Amino acid sequence: MKAERLLEEIRARLDIVDVISDYLELRRSGQNYKGLCPFHSEKTPSFMVSPDKQIYHCFGCGTGGNMVSFTMRYENLNFHEALEMLAKKAGIDLKAYRFESSNDDIKDKLLDIHKKVLDVFRENLRKTKGASLYLIERGLTEETINAFSLGYSLKEWNQITNYLKGRGFQNPVVLQSGIVSAGTKSNYDVFRDRIIFPIFNLQNDVVGFGGRVMDNSEPKYLNSPDTILFKKGETLYGLSHAKEGIRKEGHAVVVEGYFDVLTCHQNGINNTVAPLGTALTSSHLQKIKRFTNKVFLVFDGDYAGRSAARRSLGMLIEQGLSPKILVLPEKEDPDSFIRNKGATAFKGLLAGSGSPVDFVLNTSEKDRTGAVHEAVEFISRASDLLMKEELILELSEKTGFRESVIREELKRLSRKIREKAGRPAAPAVPVQPLIYDEEILLLSASIAFPERVPYILKIVGLHEFRSPAVRRIMEELSAIGTGETMDSLMPHLDREEEMLVTRLTLHPGFDLEIADKNIDDCIRKVSSRKFDERRRELEMSGDPELLNALLLEKRKMLKEAR
Ligand code: UTP
Ligand code: MN
Repeated sequence: MKAERLLEEIRARLDIVDVISDYLELRRSGQNYKGLCPFHSEKTPSFMVSPDKQIYHCFGCGTGGNMVSFTMRYENLNFHEALEMLAKKAGIDLKAYRFESSNDDIKDKLLDIHKKVLDVFRENLRKTKGASLYLIERGLTEETINAFSLGYSLKEWNQITNYLKGRGFQNPVVLQSGIVSAGTKSNYDVFRDRIIFPIFNLQNDVVGFGGRVMDNSEPKYLNSPDTILFKKGETLYGLSHAKEGIRKEGHAVVVEGYFDVLTCHQNGINNTVAPLGTALTSSHLQKIKRFTNKVFLVFDGDYAGRSAARRSLGMLIEQGLSPKILVLPEKEDPDSFIRNKGATAFKGLLAGSGSPVDFVLNTSEKDRTGAVHEAVEFISRASDLLMKEELILELSEKTGFRESVIREELKRLSRKIREKAGRPAAPAVPVQPLIYDEEILLLSASIAFPERVPYILKIVGLHEFRSPAVRRIMEELSAIGTGETMDSLMPHLDREEEMLVTRLTLHPGFDLEIADKNIDDCIRKVSSRKFDERRRELEMSGDPELLNALLLEKRKMLKEAR
């Protein structure tokens, strides 16, 4: 498989320590490197990277894997996307490695369709006066229209349908694009007589479209349905244009609509993005987290806007993102505000936007104590301890309540929540201590010395392992053969199995110097189990001849295992 060859080449060129060092600070600690885990919040480092084994493992939260799974997890990518990203880092020319699975084939076709259809939409816009006029009336410049590749879909029912047919695209993939729909008699175009906003992914491919009517008809906006290229709940409009701005400014501005994004960018607020008519999701936030952990949320001043702000705010705090909130005057959105009052006025509002504490205190409909209670509730959701601390200090400063009172209230609240949930307080990140029993030790030895796997499995049958995870990993180890590295093992494992493997790699639980003795001890223990069980059964049934035969068999087995 080509992905495997590519992985090999990446491995030859990149070191996991360098890859991870791009994201966090690692310090040498013995043979390994240590740092603060990026996947849970902690103050003392329990995140280990092994340059020998080319794996990482966090002893705090249990996550672990190789550089591919790290990249997948950190950047929120699927396997192929992570490979592509690493290949770019390694300076590998990807053209030589076109992935060949059928899904990739469809993906390529869909990307091709979107790209070609966008060209048609753009050409339509150039040729349709009314559509250009609409955009100009809404204050967009030629430059913005081009930069965001805006287009127009004709009034007719089958321009795109016929165009795609003419280019030889087959029905299933055309329908899968969501740009064309199946009617009772024939296919028809989904977007008709609408201004088209192409939606780009982070690699600058068009993956979907939004379309707005030019009058008051309904629905005002239509968006592409979810496809294998595009998920509404994970995509932010404008992110590919905004990512540089977000990096430069150190924060992202999240607004509500297409035109808000365009007007902001046109006025130099280049770090602006918007969800696609849905509430912000944690996947959206994950995307933003790749570039910054500061987010300015801008909402309409009406009731819906305020309650959306409330929901999003809570989610941001939970995810350790530091939020600022700007609630605009009623009936205004960033687009209309900038057009009415100017960009400078809007930037002024942004600069003065409030902290979560301000927002809760200003918008609460309860009395002062009630508002403080609400704020405490928000603060209790903060996952980042430093942020929590800051919020506590701020709330105390702004309300005059003593810090100790607020902390007491926070404690009471978390007790209440625990009681409601009906379970005792869990430690911040619960990782079960590992019991190094004979099965785990055998697995551990097999990971450290894969060449011993055939020997172990000759005496201990796979079915004799009681732990399903151990059994599965042993099975995979024997399947990949001895010459292979851990990297070839990882893709075959589920998350729990992967965590076990990386954990044992860094903490084998026995002295590697006397591994062979350990292996034999463990083999003996595992193998004796089945004899002991059968013996118990035989003793109950009381057949002396069978019992003797069994004892002989056991002695023979023990001898075999040295
Ligand atoms: P708004 O109704 O606030 O529209 O919807 P807007 O962005 O201000 O657009 P203009 O200024 O009237 O042209 C906010 C966002 O919600 C989504 C769109 O993404 C829109 O930008 N939406 C809205 C839909 O998906 N469908 C709709 O019918 C309406
Ligand atoms: Mn608007």
